[in-house]
Amino acid sequence: MQKSKKISRNAFLKKISVFFSLISGVILFSTYGKTLNRFFTHARIYRIPLKRIKNRIYENDRFFILKENNKFTVLSKKCPHLGCTLQRINSVDIIVCPCHGSRFHITGKFISGPAAQNMKRLNYKTDSNNIIIIKSS
Ligand code: FES
Repeated sequence: MQKSKKISRNAFLKKISVFFSLISGVILFSTYGKTLNRFFTHARIYRIPLKRIKNRIYENDRFFILKENNKFTVLSKKCPHLGCTLQRINSVDIIVCPCHGSRFHITGKFISGPAAQNMKRLNYKTDSNNIIIIKSS
Protein backbone atom coordinates (compact mmCIF):
# COMPACT_ATOMS: atom_id res chain seq x y z
CA MET A 1 0.00 0.00 0.00
CA GLN A 2 2.80 2.37 0.93
CA LYS A 3 4.57 1.65 -2.38
CA SER A 4 1.63 2.63 -4.57
CA LYS A 5 1.33 5.94 -2.66
CA LYS A 6 4.98 6.75 -3.46
CA ILE A 7 4.45 6.01 -7.18
CA SER A 8 1.43 8.26 -7.32
CA ARG A 9 3.51 11.06 -5.71
CA ASN A 10 6.15 10.63 -8.44
CA ALA A 11 3.48 10.71 -11.10
CA PHE A 12 2.02 13.82 -9.49
CA LEU A 13 5.46 15.53 -9.48
CA LYS A 14 5.95 14.64 -13.14
CA LYS A 15 2.59 16.13 -14.02
CA ILE A 16 3.34 19.26 -12.03
CA SER A 17 6.72 19.69 -13.73
CA VAL A 18 5.13 19.25 -17.18
CA PHE A 19 2.43 21.75 -16.24
CA PHE A 20 4.95 24.38 -15.11
CA SER A 21 7.09 23.75 -18.20
CA LEU A 22 4.07 24.42 -20.40
CA ILE A 23 3.15 27.57 -18.45
CA SER A 24 6.71 28.91 -18.70
CA GLY A 25 6.72 28.13 -22.45
CA VAL A 26 3.48 30.06 -22.95
CA ILE A 27 4.86 33.02 -20.96
CA LEU A 28 8.12 33.01 -22.93
CA PHE A 29 6.33 32.79 -26.28
CA SER A 30 3.88 35.56 -25.41
CA THR A 31 6.79 37.76 -24.29
CA TYR A 32 9.15 37.10 -27.16
CA GLY A 33 6.77 35.77 -29.83
CA LYS A 34 6.71 38.98 -31.87
CA THR A 35 10.48 39.22 -31.81
CA LEU A 36 10.85 35.58 -32.85
CA ASN A 37 8.27 36.01 -35.60
CA ARG A 38 10.08 39.10 -36.91
CA PHE A 39 13.39 37.24 -36.79
CA PHE A 40 12.11 34.29 -38.79
CA THR A 41 10.18 36.28 -41.39
CA HIS A 42 13.10 38.67 -42.03
CA ALA A 43 10.68 41.56 -42.38
CA ARG A 44 12.29 44.97 -42.52
CA ILE A 45 10.83 48.37 -41.88
CA TYR A 46 12.06 51.13 -44.19
CA ARG A 47 11.63 54.82 -43.38
CA ILE A 48 12.30 57.08 -46.34
CA PRO A 49 11.87 60.85 -46.28
CA LEU A 50 9.47 61.88 -49.04
CA LYS A 51 11.90 64.58 -50.17
CA ARG A 52 14.29 61.81 -51.27
CA ILE A 53 11.71 60.60 -53.78
CA LYS A 54 12.39 63.32 -56.31
CA ASN A 55 11.92 61.36 -59.51
CA ARG A 56 8.94 59.38 -60.73
CA ILE A 57 10.61 56.13 -59.71
CA TYR A 58 12.67 55.47 -56.60
CA GLU A 59 14.28 52.11 -55.99
CA ASN A 60 16.46 50.36 -53.46
CA ASP A 61 17.48 46.74 -52.98
CA ARG A 62 13.98 45.61 -51.89
CA PHE A 63 11.34 47.63 -53.73
CA PHE A 64 10.33 50.25 -56.29
CA ILE A 65 8.31 53.32 -55.38
CA LEU A 66 6.33 54.74 -58.26
CA LYS A 67 5.18 58.31 -57.69
CA GLU A 68 2.35 59.60 -59.85
CA ASN A 69 0.19 62.63 -59.01
CA ASN A 70 1.54 62.59 -55.44
CA LYS A 71 0.28 59.03 -54.97
CA PHE A 72 2.66 56.19 -54.35
CA THR A 73 2.74 52.58 -55.46
CA VAL A 74 5.27 50.41 -53.68
CA LEU A 75 6.25 47.21 -55.47
CA SER A 76 8.40 44.39 -54.15
CA LYS A 77 11.49 43.57 -56.18
CA LYS A 78 10.92 39.90 -55.43
CA CYS A 79 9.71 38.14 -58.57
CA PRO A 80 6.32 36.46 -57.97
CA HIS A 81 7.53 33.39 -59.88
CA LEU A 82 10.44 32.05 -57.81
CA GLY A 83 11.72 35.11 -55.99
CA CYS A 84 14.63 36.43 -58.06
CA THR A 85 15.36 40.13 -57.77
CA LEU A 86 13.63 42.12 -60.50
CA GLN A 87 15.47 44.76 -62.48
CA ARG A 88 14.24 47.87 -64.18
CA ILE A 89 15.09 48.72 -67.77
CA ASN A 90 15.76 52.43 -67.49
CA SER A 91 14.94 53.48 -71.04
CA VAL A 92 11.40 52.05 -70.91
CA ASP A 93 8.86 51.48 -68.16
CA ILE A 94 9.57 47.77 -68.03
CA ILE A 95 10.77 45.58 -65.17
CA VAL A 96 12.32 42.22 -66.02
CA CYS A 97 13.33 39.13 -64.14
CA PRO A 98 16.88 38.01 -64.97
CA CYS A 99 16.18 34.40 -64.01
CA HIS A 100 13.38 33.26 -66.33
CA GLY A 101 12.46 36.41 -68.22
CA SER A 102 9.14 37.50 -66.75
CA ARG A 103 8.28 41.07 -67.70
CA PHE A 104 6.16 43.65 -65.89
CA HIS A 105 5.05 47.20 -66.53
CA ILE A 106 6.46 49.73 -64.05
CA THR A 107 3.01 49.80 -62.41
CA GLY A 108 3.53 46.13 -61.50
CA LYS A 109 1.16 44.75 -64.10
CA PHE A 110 2.23 41.38 -65.51
CA ILE A 111 3.18 41.42 -69.22
CA SER A 112 4.73 38.04 -70.03
CA GLY A 113 6.71 35.09 -68.70
CA PRO A 114 6.30 32.29 -66.20
CA ALA A 115 5.37 34.54 -63.24
CA ALA A 116 1.80 34.84 -64.61
CA GLN A 117 0.75 37.39 -62.00
CA ASN A 118 1.33 41.02 -61.11
CA MET A 119 4.20 42.18 -58.94
CA LYS A 120 3.46 42.19 -55.22
CA ARG A 121 2.33 45.55 -53.83
CA LEU A 122 3.67 46.47 -50.42
CA ASN A 123 1.65 48.39 -47.86
CA TYR A 124 2.95 51.73 -46.76
CA LYS A 125 1.93 54.72 -44.72
CA THR A 126 3.21 58.25 -44.41
CA ASP A 127 3.64 59.95 -41.07
CA SER A 128 3.35 63.57 -39.99
CA ASN A 129 7.09 64.11 -40.58
CA ASN A 130 6.74 63.32 -44.29
CA ILE A 131 8.33 59.93 -43.95
CA ILE A 132 7.07 56.99 -45.98
CA ILE A 133 7.14 53.81 -43.91
CA ILE A 134 7.29 50.52 -45.77
CA LYS A 135 7.31 47.00 -44.42
CA SER A 136 9.21 44.69 -46.74
CA SER A 137 9.30 40.92 -46.28
S1 FES B 1 12.02 33.90 -60.81
FE1 FES B 1 11.35 35.52 -62.05
S2 FES B 1 10.56 34.59 -63.81
FE2 FES B 1 11.24 32.96 -62.58
